[in-house]
Amino acid sequence: MTRTAGLWKLATSGGCAAKLGPFDLDKLILGIDFHSCRTDMVIAGQETHDDAAIVALSEDKWTVLTTDFISPASDDPFTYGQIAAANALSDVYAMGGLPLVALNICCFPRQLELRDEVRQVLRGAATVAQSAGAEIVGGHTIVSSAPFYGLAVTGVVTPRKVRYMSGAKVGQALILTKPLGTGVYISAYKQGLINAQDFVVAEESMITLNSAASDVIAKYSVGGCTDITGFGLAGHAVKMAKASKVGIRLCLEAVPVFERVAQLTAMGVSTRNTDEIVIFVRDYLRGGLQNLDSYAAILFDPQTSGGLLISVPAHDAETLVEELRGAGMREAAIVGEVVSGDSVFVEVY
Ligand code: CO
Ligand code: CO
Repeated sequence: MTRTAGLWKLATSGGCAAKLGPFDLDKLILGIDFHSCRTDMVIAGQETHDDAAIVALSEDKWTVLTTDFISPASDDPFTYGQIAAANALSDVYAMGGLPLVALNICCFPRQLELRDEVRQVLRGAATVAQSAGAEIVGGHTIVSSAPFYGLAVTGVVTPRKVRYMSGAKVGQALILTKPLGTGVYISAYKQGLINAQDFVVAEESMITLNSAASDVIAKYSVGGCTDITGFGLAGHAVKMAKASKVGIRLCLEAVPVFERVAQLTAMGVSTRNTDEIVIFVRDYLRGGLQNLDSYAAILFDPQTSGGLLISVPAHDAETLVEELRGAGMREAAIVGEVVSGDSVFVEVY
């Protein structure tokens, strides 16, 4: 791998950490009327807070739409393109769909000496899109001093196979398919606290499509499902709890993380988005977690191209984890459970 770091050096934050916080996002769209004469076709839209939009073209033909673009998550431009594509495709898999086509979203500096790097980004994304069975059919470019790249993805989903955020049911077990720590690792790598060799494990995880996980879980009676991205595990757990009107208990010890996460969080490595996530999640948190200087901060770490968080009947949980591990998600684990309560909450123990 040749690490040609021109774009990486221009990035103000890495990957999904550049995302607007959940609180600011809610405020931004509050009170705006997005409805139109097509509202009847919209199965999942602004109100449902799902990972992707779903539009019914006919009774049995539903299309799934999503977009994501991120700042460089690697100093290797080809890898950055691969990660950005896997990240953008992820919401389709979270909802149980299959991607068909995608559009490039390119915001890159004008400098000619960066052209080769930009082409590498596009190549990397194309290989991942191809492996997902999705064709990149066009796109749009903007000259921007800060680089951003991603995809707008269109896919299909079978109506009875859709997985919603709101499907979590009391008594179900929660499973996470990838380890946490991409935010901390990107920060640490930017600061020179880990080397390229250490960083590879995070890069490989971010490049990994959630398609294999999606295929495996499709065989089970899944309750709720979402992918862990910019709001961190805690933020996405709160979103699932709110949508499903349940409580969620997360077992901190059971949450898989990259090898050096404990060491790096103890050194105070975090991403700038973490505080915003804490503000959003705070009102729903129960028990512990007051001391965010500690290792628990990993629950608020914004993930780029993170894994799926799935709720399934408790009696299926272990078999499903085994099957996920066999399909390559070697660190998939049961990380908590869905519980009842008088209000929506997330508790960490
Ligand atoms: Co998502
Ligand atoms: Co997204």
